[in-house]
Amino acid sequence: MAYVISGPCTDIMDKSCMEVCPVHCIYEGARKLYIHPDECIDCGACEPNCPVEAITYETEVPPDQEQHVADNRDFFYSVLPGRDAELGLIGGARDYGPVGVDTPLVASQPPCPSNQL
Ligand code: F3S
Ligand code: F3S
Repeated sequence: MAYVISGPCTDIMDKSCMEVCPVHCIYEGARKLYIHPDECIDCGACEPNCPVEAITYETEVPPDQEQHVADNRDFFYSVLPGRDAELGLIGGARDYGPVGVDTPLVASQPPCPSNQL
């Protein structure tokens, strides 16, 4: 079980969550961030820090965002566009840096209007 970042993060990418995660298990895609389901220690520190309330425990994800539970896992355990292998276990976003690519689900989303100002 782990915390999950859902759709409201898309094109916002405030990154306040990254600053408070003690194990650096929040990874940066191109338009959204993703929590590693096997590196998250369920501490809950990130949840109140997101200004758009995109972070919830995986059993508390709003019904219209439930696809993001599997999508956060897919980010690490499926082969992302332009890559030839899955990311798998990484060991910390601070050392790894931005991944720079999104899952097909997130990449296919229309631009978030609030980020087009
Ligand atoms: Fe996204 Fe919220 Fe973190 S907008 S980058 S989940 S603080
Ligand atoms: Fe990190 Fe704790 Fe959130 S381990 S992803 S700050 S629940």
